[in-house]
Amino acid sequence: MRVLVYDTHSYDQSFLDAANAGRHELAYTSAQLDQQTAALAAGYDAVCLFVNDHASEPVMAKLAAGGVRAIAQRSTGYNNLDLAAAARHNITCMRVGFYSPYAVAEFAVGLLQTLNRRIHRAHNRTREFNFRLAGLLGHDIHGRTVGVVGTGKIGAIFARIMHGFGCPLLGHDVRQSQACLELGMEYVSLEDLLRRSDIISLHAPLLPETHHMINAESLAITRPGVMLINTSRGGLVDTEALIGFIQRGHMGAVGLDVYEEEEGKFFRDLSDSVMDDDVLARLISFPNVLLTSHQAFFTHEAMTTIAETTLQNLSDAEAGTLNENVLRAS
Ligand SMILES: NC(=O)c1ccc[n+]([C@@H]2O[C@H](COP(=O)([O-])OP(=O)(O)OC[C@H]3O[C@@H](n4cnc5c(N)ncnc54)[C@H](O)[C@@H]3O)[C@@H](O)[C@H]2O)c1
Repeated sequence: MRVLVYDTHSYDQSFLDAANAGRHELAYTSAQLDQQTAALAAGYDAVCLFVNDHASEPVMAKLAAGGVRAIAQRSTGYNNLDLAAAARHNITCMRVGFYSPYAVAEFAVGLLQTLNRRIHRAHNRTREFNFRLAGLLGHDIHGRTVGVVGTGKIGAIFARIMHGFGCPLLGHDVRQSQACLELGMEYVSLEDLLRRSDIISLHAPLLPETHHMINAESLAITRPGVMLINTSRGGLVDTEALIGFIQRGHMGAVGLDVYEEEEGKFFRDLSDSVMDDDVLARLISFPNVLLTSHQAFFTHEAMTTIAETTLQNLSDAEAGTLNENVLRAS
């Protein structure tokens, strides 16, 4: 297949080329897919997309008109694809259904403990030979109640790690995980979880019903000093509401690997330009907020599986085989 890979960075190209082994004709562009850039795919059989490439109805129409009949999403989340529109335009959409969930779960724990023990601030200090400890006081994680929202593949591994720290676990999900129940997780309503947790970690997908599930109302019932970690999707959190609670001193710490307006900013070097997103600039300015740019998945193991699965998805689409990674509109 002739495939145009959107939103490419050097690391994408090296993992995809290694996994391809000459099977498909891959072309790369750093452009993100939108209504303007859809025209670049004219003449290709397929496109390969990442989380901030937007395949909405008009984009699907343009892709189909240019001959595209398959989309290989190189991530697990696929809220950027309009699957109903894809079906109308006879475009088969596939994703990477499974890759190292350890990558994201371990990163969430990294954010948690970095914030708790102020490791990021300590590093900045020692680089300037400031060896004072004032301001670096943390908590034992042992014994602190951890609330896991979404106990699927990533949430369950996160829960297992936190169980290892000696934390009582609360869970909220539309279905219960046997692995989490075996860790002693107590499944509760979202409200109960928010009220009772010292640390809340989000691992639910972005859906209409989970959009802004963390908002002014839900933050108001959390414990003063609560820690919030979001490695799932930015849209789960109403960021402006969160900023209000940070400013009022309610939040102990906030770790964000995702941000609802990340598109066009994350994965880019904007260090030479003026940041025009006041919300993002404000978030980054808080001492108890640690923001990373959607890097939780970014391990050698995860990138290898993502590339191999993406190439296999393209081969299956070419052969007309509908594998388990094919996405259908619900
Ligand atoms: N930051 C990153 O680099 C990165 C990488 C991979 C995945 N993610 C995000 O992590 C999310 C979780 O990934 P996963 O592999 O564990 O997915 P998964 O499908 O295995 O688990 C998601 C869980 O959320 C639950 N859920 C669905 N609706 C819910 C609701 N309304 N309330 C509570 N729980 C609900 C599901 O039942 C499921 O158990 C993905 O959707 C993606 O957005 C982020």
